Amino acid sequence: MNLNIKELLELDDFSEIYDEAKRVTRDNKGNIIFTRAVIEYSNNCTRNCAYCGINCMSKGITRYRMDNKEIIDSALLAVRAGFKTIILQGGEDLEFPADRIAMLVKEIANLGVAVTVSSGEMDYESYRIIKEAGASRYLLKHETADSEIYAKLHNGYTLQSRIDCLQNLRKLGYEVGSGFIVGLPNQNIDTLVKDINLLYDLRVDMAGISPFIPHKGTVLGKLNVGNKELVKRCVAITRLLLPQCNLPVTTAYTTVNGGEDAFLDGIANVIMAKATPIKYRKLYEIYPNATQMTDILQSRNNLINLANRFGKILA
Ligand code: 5AD
Repeated sequence: MNLNIKELLELDDFSEIYDEAKRVTRDNKGNIIFTRAVIEYSNNCTRNCAYCGINCMSKGITRYRMDNKEIIDSALLAVRAGFKTIILQGGEDLEFPADRIAMLVKEIANLGVAVTVSSGEMDYESYRIIKEAGASRYLLKHETADSEIYAKLHNGYTLQSRIDCLQNLRKLGYEVGSGFIVGLPNQNIDTLVKDINLLYDLRVDMAGISPFIPHKGTVLGKLNVGNKELVKRCVAITRLLLPQCNLPVTTAYTTVNGGEDAFLDGIANVIMAKATPIKYRKLYEIYPNATQMTDILQSRNNLINLANRFGKILA
């Protein structure tokens, strides 16, 4: 598509683009907001992502791992509450190799729901085993499409291996979710253009675009929060480029926004609720946020009310 993304991001007045993105959302996604229930099964992680509160260098946090029964029981409660997609999300945890994830996926898929996995980078064979077990989607944000910034924030890892993973997931027939963080050090408009272009090049089915939120336990703890207007502009442009893409209102956006603008003014079409047992929720602190402390049934009711208030229908 022939959009000058940089010019759009720099516009003084973006209101026409918002209107257009809203119209494209309505035409392609109707009035429906899709819901996902996320089970954060482990906050153990072998990675060192500089921005993330549960990275392997973070000190003073209590690590937890849910056992298989807890995970399945949490999924069951979410399904009973009406959720039709369960997301299994965790740090890159060696105690959760592909065959264990696959077993969990199989059990949850048997409940009659779609299963999304968000367990980080794995090799092709691992992704294949998980797909074969019944996972239909995989979330792996590229975080930043600037290879230098990527390398600085992920010591010892490369953007290319991230992209290879995303391409492997695509090859295996997953619906692929990616996304990025806005407000990382050394980012600028040009790097955000690369981020949006990468989403387009990968033809992602889903994209989570979040403001950076500093976590005091990390080396980036003293930086400012990412610019929420810039986040919203990135989401709107992504909607124009990929009309069918599922675009969540990310938890980070809601956190920065204090809960207002619940669906990005009609541009987002997905919202998530936590199905993690309440006792673990505060421990899964990727970034500081007002952790949702309602059980999954109550959260579902809250989402129904929220959707109603904005004239949306919950799915
Ligand atoms: N601010 C915003 N988003 C973050 N993530 C991790 N740390 C932060 C932070 N400090 C996001 C990453 C990751 C997802 C699980 O959480 O994009 O992919």
